[in-house]
Amino acid sequence: MRGLVVLLMLLFSSIVACKAGADWKKSLGLGKEKVSYLHFYFHDIASGTKNATALIVAMANTTITSSTFFGMLNVVDDPLTQGPAITSKVIGRMQGVYASASQTEFSLFMGLNFLFTTGEFNGSTLTMIGRNPTMENVREMSIVGGSGAFRLARGFLLAKTYSANTVTRSFVVECDVTVIHY
Ligand SMILES: *[C@@H]1O[C@H](CO)[C@@H](O)[C@H](O)[C@H]1NC(C)=O
Ligand SMILES: *[C@@H]1O[C@H](CO)[C@@H](O)[C@H](O)[C@H]1NC(C)=O
Ligand SMILES: *[C@@H]1O[C@H](CO)[C@@H](O)[C@H](O)[C@H]1NC(C)=O
Repeated sequence: MRGLVVLLMLLFSSIVACKAGADWKKSLGLGKEKVSYLHFYFHDIASGTKNATALIVAMANTTITSSTFFGMLNVVDDPLTQGPAITSKVIGRMQGVYASASQTEFSLFMGLNFLFTTGEFNGSTLTMIGRNPTMENVREMSIVGGSGAFRLARGFLLAKTYSANTVTRSFVVECDVTVIHY
């Protein structure tokens, strides 16, 4: 009997706690939910060139004989620009890692943060995790969170290769981001 009373009290107090938290948006200073669309390009200049923005930091001893570079890990710090030219206005950085994660095709595991350094999202970040089969025309990846203006964000990113220079090993990728945030 006493156990039942304690159980009911616990149940009741947890319901009260939930009610008290119903105004969580206000208490976190969050406004109305909205959708933002972002469009930019990232410039990925591979290892080996003088101004590389993507470094190979590890690989398996079998990576070199793999037709898909399976097992290669890169750390990147790529500029984000408004237009496709490297001389176009820089609006942020794409920082994180990507790894060759398929044994049968060119496909990367991407785990990256976008840091915006200008405009209304200056100082805010978006976090993307996803699968990037680089030979496909459009690759969709998940926006799983963010900071600043993007606190509690969720969305998706569509990536398209704009240009690929296999001599300088530099790649320009167009990104369209749809993000729901407060
Ligand atoms: C690397 O930097 C040099 C000089 O700083 C520049 O001329 C060259 O275009 C850059 N290469 C790439 C691929 O951006
Ligand atoms: C890779 O390393 C493992 C463990 O050191 C070794 O047994 C194997 O023979 C190596 N394979 C190649 C292709 O070098
Ligand atoms: C972005 O924010 C930083 C840090 O607050 C500030 O120093 C910088 O001037 C801002 N840049 C722009 C373009 O607003």
